[in-house]
Amino acid sequence: MSNGRIPEEVIEKVLKHHDIVDVVGRYVHLSKQGHYMKGLCPFHSEKTPSFTVTPEKQIYHCYGCGAGGGAIRFLMEIEGFTFIEAINQMAAEANLDLGIDLGSDTPSQQNPEKTKLYEAYEFTGKLYQHILKNTEQGKQAMEYLRSRGLNDKLIDTFGIGYAPSNWDTLAQLLEKRQYALPLMEKGGLLSARQEGQGYFDKFRDRIMFPIHDWKGRLIAFAGRAMGEAQPKYLNSPETMLFHKSKSLYNMHLARPQIRKLQQIVVFEGYMDVIKAWDAGITNGVATMGTALTEEHTDVIRKQADQVTVAYDGDSAGQNAAYKSIPILEQAGCLVKIAMIPNAQDPDDFITHHGSERFVREVIENAVPSIKYKLLYFRKNFKLQEDGEKLRYMQQALKIIADITSPIEREHYVRELSTEFRYSFETTLQNLNEIRLQAEKSSNSGDNKAKAWNNVRNERTPREQTAVSPNQDAERQLLAIMLHDRDVTDYVKQNLGDQFNEDAHAVLAAYLYSYYEQGYEPNASSFIAMLQEEELEGLASSIAMMGNAYWINNQVVDDCISKIKKYKLQQLIKQKTEEMIVAERSGDLKMAGQIGNEITSLVKQLKSS
Ligand code: CTP
Ligand code: MN
Repeated sequence: MSNGRIPEEVIEKVLKHHDIVDVVGRYVHLSKQGHYMKGLCPFHSEKTPSFTVTPEKQIYHCYGCGAGGGAIRFLMEIEGFTFIEAINQMAAEANLDLGIDLGSDTPSQQNPEKTKLYEAYEFTGKLYQHILKNTEQGKQAMEYLRSRGLNDKLIDTFGIGYAPSNWDTLAQLLEKRQYALPLMEKGGLLSARQEGQGYFDKFRDRIMFPIHDWKGRLIAFAGRAMGEAQPKYLNSPETMLFHKSKSLYNMHLARPQIRKLQQIVVFEGYMDVIKAWDAGITNGVATMGTALTEEHTDVIRKQADQVTVAYDGDSAGQNAAYKSIPILEQAGCLVKIAMIPNAQDPDDFITHHGSERFVREVIENAVPSIKYKLLYFRKNFKLQEDGEKLRYMQQALKIIADITSPIEREHYVRELSTEFRYSFETTLQNLNEIRLQAEKSSNSGDNKAKAWNNVRNERTPREQTAVSPNQDAERQLLAIMLHDRDVTDYVKQNLGDQFNEDAHAVLAAYLYSYYEQGYEPNASSFIAMLQEEELEGLASSIAMMGNAYWINNQVVDDCISKIKKYKLQQLIKQKTEEMIVAERSGDLKMAGQIGNEITSLVKQLKSS
């Protein structure tokens, strides 16, 4: 489906040879409870089990964090495999000949160079830790760390070490252990001397911060100079293990808390992450000397809905924070910006004001991105002067015009008009003109017909609240469709793509095509074919909904009619808002037209 490369027969074949209970059971202790098995979720931290596996449907779902899918998705999540890697691995385990070559995208474990390099990094990390903690050479480094406020526990948690000042401490030990030194150089641990004269240590006389991938494997280092040596931080180069623009420092330790809170804090510096951790912010990560990339946001988006950007308070940090907003929002994150006074960085703030004030005044006080943009622009205007004030108002209204929620728009308009002493009505009118203008000039990227393709971008934060009656009806319908081809046909005829939730519409579309291709009802192979984490999570939660076998046609019709009614109600709401805008901007003709439309919609609603 979304990945045209793998024939669906192959997926089915692989799934047929694996029981999800065995696959999951290798990682999670499961105990039987009636129809299903229960255990502690491996994808977020919890004390009471909310992770369930249903053998009958061959799927898993966590009620705590929403993770879910079939055996393939589980392996992808827990091992960090790509889809193809997971399939290959499962085929190999079951001695299956798939009859086709899925390509070279085989599990990374099978690349011997990579395996060696992981091993070497692990060894080097331990060595540096040992030198820091137990040797005379490490003493000064230890004093330095103490002076920066790091205790033993933090040093251990983050695996901090010290690379001694000798030229070849590591090179010699690696050689003794028969690591291929050219590989060690390629992997960023050693540097080559001139003309085949051997190798020397890349990091010397530096505090060593190990960098891990999200699974906790050591893949790189950042070495901080203690004196004035340049550069301040020497980072490992790009290697087969380490890609700076994808990696986030501390993701492996922060991940459980990130998933649990559905929230991540992004810092600029290693020290910021560590000191914030000590202050109780254990969902913090950092980029590594680069701006936030789309690759970073991909990683972030998979773990959390909400992002707090906590960059340095100086202008470089604030500019970087400003630039990160659209990147994060495009990925569908809800963004807040933490502001730190007096050009301090989070580490400075914690050192000067303590943990409690950091959490309360900086993290919990982070402002929504809109508010931040308004504050950010404000600095460029001399607001004592009337002309400047008007220019700022105009700029600010443009920012506010982008907000989709009318209530939120009104909130900021009210704030702005009060502060600058314009009437609320005038300010609102001004805003509506800007909105109308924008609407005219945009060739509307928001194509309803294509909304299905936009789930990723459109996705709103995971709802903690109860599902609405409409959502409930849509889910119930989908649950029935998962088990019943005839009902699916019927829904296709009578509802088609008219689901109100985009993600539900997407699932329905996939179900239509699944049955059209001649497949029998089978939740786990359907889910596997989705090949998209969020959709699989949603589908698995729907598949877990109580058994839908008792259904009769009345239930299906009720769902369809609820969904259609809701759509009409939403349309009426939207039209009413448009009418008000038209009225306020004085376009009475337009308002009248919309009014007529509303009347006919209301009629339709009553008769349905
Ligand atoms: N950085 C880097 N290379 C440098 C300087 C900085 O990779 N030569 C990255 C590091 O990830 C660093 C971050 O940019 O943590 C922020 O830099 P900076 O604010 O200069 O350092 P701090 O985090 O404040 O470090 P420290 O507190 O140790 O001075
Ligand atoms: Mn700092």
